[in-house]
Amino acid sequence: VPSPPPGPEEDQGPRLVVDPAHPFLAPVPGDQRGPCPGLNTLANHGYIPRDGVASPSQIISASMAGFNMDHGTARLATYVGHILNGNVVTDLLSIGGKTDKTGPDPPPPASVGGINTHGTVEGDSSLTRGKFCGCASQLADDFFGNNFNFNQEFFNQFTEFSARYGNGYYNLTVAHELRYHRIQQSINSNPTFNFLGPRQITAFGESAFPILMFVDGRTTGALAGHLSMSAAESFFKDGRYPPNFFRAANPGGAFNPEVLTIVGTNSSRPGFQPGRNANGVNTFVVDDTQGGLSDICRFYEVLVGTRVKALYPNPTGVLRSNLNLNLQFLFDSLPAALNCRQIFPYGSD
Ligand code: HEM
Ligand code: MG
Repeated sequence: VPSPPPGPEEDQGPRLVVDPAHPFLAPVPGDQRGPCPGLNTLANHGYIPRDGVASPSQIISASMAGFNMDHGTARLATYVGHILNGNVVTDLLSIGGKTDKTGPDPPPPASVGGINTHGTVEGDSSLTRGKFCGCASQLADDFFGNNFNFNQEFFNQFTEFSARYGNGYYNLTVAHELRYHRIQQSINSNPTFNFLGPRQITAFGESAFPILMFVDGRTTGALAGHLSMSAAESFFKDGRYPPNFFRAANPGGAFNPEVLTIVGTNSSRPGFQPGRNANGVNTFVVDDTQGGLSDICRFYEVLVGTRVKALYPNPTGVLRSNLNLNLQFLFDSLPAALNCRQIFPYGSD
């Protein structure tokens, strides 16, 4: 039976996280690493098991302990990832690709592919992941290949934008401009560009995370909210804390106002709404059928009522009861203020 998620931490302040118990050790063959620089860092420092296979409770505890990710965001991201990409019977999720270490798979179409699995939590228009496509914009998405490895071309663009809009730092202005640019690159290079609700929510969230969680928690004054390129490279490329790094001063995550600041007040920039390329490159249409930043409940309803149901059409026994437990943990992670309607695809226990 999966253990219920941990509660919030008691001490929610800044703290040295590269302590003697959490040294950096590079992964060895067989260890799972994936598209998320946060989780890769946590695994490389032993906040989650170094093989990159962990229970949701371990991932939630580690995200709070190592980055001061807020409890609600840590839970929501983890349970979405686990229900779509993990093994709900063994209670194990890979932070990278598919591996035997998550145990025997439930029957297909369940895939238990780890968080590398494209179109689940991982999606198009990432900041530093994707493949050099050799097409007009030179930079593209999963359509062209590997969606999870660090890509130097993308990181060079991250650095260029930080120089141009942030005096050499990644800040909210850079995040807004780079997010816009990445979306345009995907629109004009990726015929299958998918920026529906689930991806719109994670893409803008992930654009804010480096500002909220990769900046040393002791930073105050003019450099608050400013990520240096050396720290950025350390996290994105190496999955490694900079020397003597302190985690953020306050819990932060997907529900911070910074996320909407990156969208921009009244931003009508094309591609900032949820949508997709409907018919090849340069055919972006707005499509909010799977919700989005302005309709998180709809995102939840489609996720559980359609996508989870497609992976697990007829679960029985432990599979069904563990799915129900995880779906409850997921629902309980949504901010209460949203007042979302709970969905029970397998009845309630
Ligand atoms: C991507 C940070 C926790 C799953 C990202 C990205 C950042 C980030 C900055 C963007 C990478 C890029 O676009 O190049 C963090 C931080 C976390 C955290 C600081 C705090 C612990 C989590 C958790 C999950 C998760 C708990 C789910 C289990 C992912 C996935 C992506 C991602 C699947 C790839 C999305 C994509 O760009 O296509 N994360 N993350 N992350 N994160 Fe995390
Ligand atoms: Mg991606």
